[in-house]
Amino acid sequence: MNSLRLRAAGKINLFLEILGVRPDGYHDLYMVLQSIDLADFVTLKPANSLSIHCTHPLVPNDSRNLAWKAAELIQKVYGITQGIEIWIDKHIPVASGLAGGSADAAAVLVGLNQLWDLGLTQIQLQELAGQLGSDIPFCVVGGTALGLGRGDELTALALPKPLHLVVAKPKEVQVSTAWAYGTYREKYLPHRLADRANAKEMLAALSAGDVHRIAAALHNDLEAPILPAHPEVAALRERFMDNGAIGAMMSGSGSAVFGLALNRFEAENLFERMQGDGQIEIHLCHTVLGGVTLEDLAS
Ligand code: C5P
Repeated sequence: MNSLRLRAAGKINLFLEILGVRPDGYHDLYMVLQSIDLADFVTLKPANSLSIHCTHPLVPNDSRNLAWKAAELIQKVYGITQGIEIWIDKHIPVASGLAGGSADAAAVLVGLNQLWDLGLTQIQLQELAGQLGSDIPFCVVGGTALGLGRGDELTALALPKPLHLVVAKPKEVQVSTAWAYGTYREKYLPHRLADRANAKEMLAALSAGDVHRIAAALHNDLEAPILPAHPEVAALRERFMDNGAIGAMMSGSGSAVFGLALNRFEAENLFERMQGDGQIEIHLCHTVLGGVTLEDLAS
């Protein structure tokens, strides 16, 4: 049987507002999610048992990995006894708020649907994805989307032209997403003022494809707990602005920060100017339309 190689796009959050606490302990969100070309490559090879192999030393190769959980969930729900070898060629920085683990899991769901001929619709894949994590349904479909509820109630948005950006992550800073939400809930949510973040303006800016307006409307509530706790992240955001980004924001719960540029040429200049700090890893990026895409079939 053939192997499958899939491209699994990372994401940034152009907007993330925490509206309140849900009965299930999660938070109700108002998010704008956007796929970027920074992607992992996931190869699935038919095998007798389940195994995972990753090029990155910090990525677990067992049931702690969301990609493993995705394969197990499909095996369980559809009574599959075959195994699978999952090979992850990691490019999305780990623990960065760029949904690397979620993208890999999404690729496993999409790939196994094809490899095991399950005939699942996109809606069914997204329903399975939602059982594994809040960002995974978005990673299946990708593009630009509004995410409500836990972040998994998605509505596709149109972005008239691609955005060009630079993504950077302080190498040593790892943030726990649960800690970020928990701290926001304790310290900031009780004092939250309604409507201080302008979601309507972000949606209007996106549909107009106006980069300056998008940059001005960037918002992430999780910066409130993270920036004081991790000065490296705050400094990186400052550096983006000092080096000519038209807007800069932490993605998700961090620790990656992105800087928006007016166009491809300006993004290249920004990328050059952000070089020279050995403490950060840095990527020149643009937005993309898809989440998981099939790269090729290999026998
Ligand atoms: O769903 P996922 O496993 O990606 O979420 C990681 C953690 O982020 C959760 O355990 C929870 O603490 C927090 N979270 C939340 N509300 C959301 C999404 C995530 O509190 N809507």
